[in-house]
Amino acid sequence: MTNGAVFSSDIKQRKDRHLHICLESDVQSDLSNGFERYRLIPNAAPEADFSTFLSPRTFLGREISFPLLISSMTGGTARGALINRHLCIAAEARRVGLALGSLRVYSETNDFDPLSEIRRSAPTVPILANIGAVQLNAGMNIEDILALVDSISADGLIFHFNPLQELIQPGGDRDFRNIFVKLAKIRERIPVPLIAKEVGFGFSVETVRKLIEVGFDWVDVAGAGGTSWAKVEMFVRGDDPTDSVYAPFGSFGLPTADCVAAIHEAFPTLPLIASGGIRDGVEIRKAELLGARLSGVALPFLAPALESPDAVCALIDRLAVQYRSACFVSSGIEKISISG
Ligand SMILES: Cc1cc2nc3c(=O)[nH]c(=O)nc-3n(C[C@H](O)[C@H](O)[C@H](O)COP(=O)(O)O)c2cc1C
Repeated sequence: MTNGAVFSSDIKQRKDRHLHICLESDVQSDLSNGFERYRLIPNAAPEADFSTFLSPRTFLGREISFPLLISSMTGGTARGALINRHLCIAAEARRVGLALGSLRVYSETNDFDPLSEIRRSAPTVPILANIGAVQLNAGMNIEDILALVDSISADGLIFHFNPLQELIQPGGDRDFRNIFVKLAKIRERIPVPLIAKEVGFGFSVETVRKLIEVGFDWVDVAGAGGTSWAKVEMFVRGDDPTDSVYAPFGSFGLPTADCVAAIHEAFPTLPLIASGGIRDGVEIRKAELLGARLSGVALPFLAPALESPDAVCALIDRLAVQYRSACFVSSGIEKISISG
């Protein structure tokens, strides 16, 4: 598979290199996530008891304690397996959603046992499978995809769209022709909701219109303002992100808050996930008020996930306290005007 040239061991090495770079290097986008341009409108008279005013909700038919999704990060390597094990245990303990990183390696190696293990450690929370949309042009077929979804008993399937990452990545998959035609063809055979996701540069309203036509049920905007996959891939190349030929892409993309606001305005009933640079529970509240049903957080979970399930739980708890407090004391959101 994969143009017949890149073997699974190469992919595993690259994934471990990604983890190392994300942990050790400055991969923060040069753009902000845009949430600082919005402020919560205070509610000085909540008329509620803080201990009971928020109830759990459901995501893809499973109960979650608050609108958090641990965003797609990894899978397929020994380090990735450890990270996912800790994330699963914590997601189950705190009842939040978990999106896995690209599952391509499992398909390449035909080894689905680790995926069944993932579901066993998080039996009751929403788990999302993940695959690159461009893989439909690189040898992956519907049977491969169904096997992944099935072995994990996934509640949904993310197709990630990452053309800029593939361009900067040495040996990246760059043939995106007919992806929408292929997605439309296989849509009916995929038994779970389909989620389209960027990887940190955001979707335009025009792209989302096409995604809806193809049959995507959810969109994760994965906008700019957090981890920059342009910078990660510059490091992989051995470039310095300040003078790489790709340096100008350190500020590429649509800030997450703007993506959520624009897409929600254009498609008010489309279920949206906000992600890309979301770093606290106040931003989760802001994203919700701008139209997102859930917020995704990736990089901040990486170091805790290497450490232990307790470390992951501690971060989830911190986000939950911030989110619940923000809900209690706010009643709406407004854009801060330039003069104000
Ligand atoms: C170590 C790491 C690995 C990632 N791998 C994937 C992946 O396999 N598939 C995917 O859709 N996104 C992947 N992402 C992107 C994240 O899901 C997310 O869209 C992006 O990092 C922006 O969110 P953040 O600012 O909270 O990190 C990865 C992110 C990190 C940090």
